[in-house]
Amino acid sequence: MLRTIFSKKHYVFNDIPDLSGKVAIVTGANAGIGIVTARELARKNVHVFVACRSKEKGESAVELIKKETNNDSVEFLQLDLQSLNSVKNAAETFLARKLPLHILVNNAGMLTQTFGLTQDGIQDQFGVNHIGHFLFTLLLLPTIKASAPSRIVNVSSIAHKLTPPGGIEFDKLNDPNAHTAFQRYAQSKLANILFTIELNKRLSGTNVYCNSLHPGGINTELTTSVLSNWFFGLKPLVSIMSLLLLTPDDGALTQLYCATSPEIEEKNYRGKYFEPFGVLGKTSDFGNNEELAKKLWDYSENLVKEKLGDDVLSKCLA
Ligand SMILES: NC(=O)c1ccc[n+]([C@@H]2O[C@H](COP(=O)([O-])OP(=O)(O)OC[C@H]3O[C@@H](n4cnc5c(N)ncnc54)[C@H](OP(=O)(O)O)[C@@H]3O)[C@@H](O)[C@H]2O)c1
Repeated sequence: MLRTIFSKKHYVFNDIPDLSGKVAIVTGANAGIGIVTARELARKNVHVFVACRSKEKGESAVELIKKETNNDSVEFLQLDLQSLNSVKNAAETFLARKLPLHILVNNAGMLTQTFGLTQDGIQDQFGVNHIGHFLFTLLLLPTIKASAPSRIVNVSSIAHKLTPPGGIEFDKLNDPNAHTAFQRYAQSKLANILFTIELNKRLSGTNVYCNSLHPGGINTELTTSVLSNWFFGLKPLVSIMSLLLLTPDDGALTQLYCATSPEIEEKNYRGKYFEPFGVLGKTSDFGNNEELAKKLWDYSENLVKEKLGDDVLSKCLA
């Protein structure tokens, strides 16, 4: 953690080129590193969609970003990753606008201490952090491909290294007693990396650059709720521990690098995993396992079809 805080910044906001004419969607862009990512894209003249579940929080994020950047092309897109129907509606709402899509940042995420299920009966951390983004990305993929050069950025975590022995234990994902809460989070974050690897394979021959990353340990709602749980809600201890975390501005740099740096195309970075601040990182062995990546893809595709019907992905996988 300290190593990250003192790491040299390979990418800073000022390095982001002018992106006039580009369109982006950032999920979970009402808070944390998502709102910073959306704000800095807007500052560089991107038409940004703030995709989040709460209309109230989403619209106030839009207003804030517009005010701070003087960019009026910032819009709210309702997306609740707990519901596959909401994910489908969000993609359809965006597609109905007939806009290109140059940058998709799959940033939204949850880390909870309790076991829960999404509206579709999928274990919630896996459902929100991976399955919802899997469906959202695939539904948008034809437009992303048609808009190339384009980028897909999957926000993972160093926590992907803390999975149970099987990496992703598919047959136990919905078992409330099989894993600790943190192991459930770790599997969902490993899924972000493996999805990136398999998607990248399927994008070969295109100019779509798909990468994943760990943003750093960042002082956001996600981490403070974990710290609060570890330290029994003792606010002074939580505040002291939070001092060891990066600011959301620094936390957003690595995903902004993946989304905007010319270096991604110059160096042909595809299917890679980055760490703060925009440097290549090393995953766990599971994070390089192409067989597991293919297994995850098949599992995710079958699950989405089981929940929404066989036709749901028919136009996306051509
Ligand atoms: N913070 C860290 O140290 C850290 C480290 C490694 C990786 N990450 C990853 O970074 C990403 C952003 O996290 P953060 O730290 O910025 O956390 P955060 O401040 O808690 O923000 C998370 C965002 O995800 C949204 N979200 C949660 N559930 C959702 C759902 N069902 N549908 C749509 N949006 C939903 C939240 O919306 P609401 O406001 O409505 O809840 C919020 O906008 C996550 O993918 C996380 O796993 C964070």
